[in-house]
Amino acid sequence: LVLILDFGSQYTHLITRRIRSLNVFSLCINGTSSLETITALSPRVIILSGGPHSVHAPHAPCFAPGFLNYVQENAVFVLGICYGLQLIVQQLGGEVRIGEKQEYGRMEIEVRKMSGLFGEKCVGERQVVWMSHGDEAVRLPEGFEVVASSLQGGVAAIQNKEMKFYGLQYHPEVTHSLEGMYTLRYFLFDVCGVSAGWTMDDVLEEELKVIDEKVGPEEHVICALSGGVDSTVAATLVHKAIGDRLHCVFVDNGLLRYKERERVMETFEKDLHLPVTCIDATEQFLSKLKGVEDPEQKRKIIGREFICVFDAFGHDLEQKVGTKPTYLVQGTLYPDIIESCPPPGSGRTHSHTIKSHHNVGGLPKDMKLKLIEPLKLLFKDEVRELGKILNVPVGFLKRHPFPGPGLAVRIQGDVTKGNALETLRQADEIFIQAIRDAGIYDSIWQAFAVHLDVKSVGVQGDQRTHAHPIILRAVTSQDGMTADWYPFEPKFLNDVANKIINGVRGVNRVLLDITSKPPATIEWE
Ligand code: XMP
Repeated sequence: LVLILDFGSQYTHLITRRIRSLNVFSLCINGTSSLETITALSPRVIILSGGPHSVHAPHAPCFAPGFLNYVQENAVFVLGICYGLQLIVQQLGGEVRIGEKQEYGRMEIEVRKMSGLFGEKCVGERQVVWMSHGDEAVRLPEGFEVVASSLQGGVAAIQNKEMKFYGLQYHPEVTHSLEGMYTLRYFLFDVCGVSAGWTMDDVLEEELKVIDEKVGPEEHVICALSGGVDSTVAATLVHKAIGDRLHCVFVDNGLLRYKERERVMETFEKDLHLPVTCIDATEQFLSKLKGVEDPEQKRKIIGREFICVFDAFGHDLEQKVGTKPTYLVQGTLYPDIIESCPPPGSGRTHSHTIKSHHNVGGLPKDMKLKLIEPLKLLFKDEVRELGKILNVPVGFLKRHPFPGPGLAVRIQGDVTKGNALETLRQADEIFIQAIRDAGIYDSIWQAFAVHLDVKSVGVQGDQRTHAHPIILRAVTSQDGMTADWYPFEPKFLNDVANKIINGVRGVNRVLLDITSKPPATIEWE
């Protein structure tokens, strides 16, 4: 295991990703985690991440007391990156000073010596790297040597071979550091002796074992399927482990896309043979949403109704199988549970933060069910890979994300007003189908149509119209946290606009949203 201690750098998760891409299992935990937590994981290598702090700042985060003894006694290799390097220098008796020459962005370094970071072949080489630091190491602790310097003369890489301590002042994990992957590979494989054997098959085997040990032979498990990739892969995995003691429910809340219910149910039943109960709760949801315009209010109502439906499902199940279900499967992913060191003064704590909107409505506080979260150590692309091994159709795995509150966050105001839901479904389907036909679906993170509760004047077939606009929104993104609008060809847009105007009643204008996130969000509400 390669363990990353996170001190708050925006690139920390990228380090985890890069190392996993070398088929080496890596985990990232809070930089100030206790020594017991670290010991329990028994890492072979520990990477101290970068961070926005200065080691001199009051309350600057630091590894746990006893950390230095632990790594020495257990011959653990330690690599400090940026803040991590400065922490090593300061904690081992060297000196870190507020940098006179701050180094930000693309820089050149010169490799001066054969070392555990660059090997023989790089000696004398100049490398382009990505730096982002204000403080600098000006005196190294005893036994350390500089093995690469920036062209301005700053320390770029250090080592103490005997202690197995290494440090890089730049970020090898970002692609702007052109030789960064070479350095990580050389360090992990040639110096630390890590072996590349971690695959999704191992993950699957391990998770099946965990579920098998956890869930007793008489116990029953429930899972709410949203039609998205995460809950589907999680359910498929659990189904493989415990068979039909898994009971899934798919709720049609009346806010789904065009033929969504039929499409996902077909995949669940025909391709995945999952035991799924489909509940049509359209009336229940829409009656509660009637007249509600406030976006947060809409979300709350939807969350509440979901919980009511799940409760009723659990109750019916108990009657059927004669025992209460004991576990709930959730498709929680790694980015949802990672803790990180917040910047000082941000007001955030080190607490376990879960994006609440990703679990529709959250979970009831007094919930008796225990959780099974088989994907909680995986990133989205790893979940897709796992899905492939579990024979989830590739087309399904590549589906764009769809928010839990469904079309309610894409219809401005009261979702039950007029024909908004049906109008939006038709326009959205035309847009998505055109994207598929143009072969660009997989290049887009998320695409959809939005219905606005305003009217404008138009003219169609010599008739004056007074109808709604449809907004087209398509974005590229890595994780939904930031996004950019997708640059369609003008002809594509022209064709889609024509198809929507001519094919969807009640629409007389098509607009394109060209706002990135930030400042906008991806959804409209
Ligand atoms: P925003 O609109 O916040 O969206 O930029 C980021 C990503 O999250 C999805 N999203 C949601 N998903 N419940 C969900 O399950 C929600 O309430 C919700 N709001 C936004 C959105 O589709 C995008 O992928």
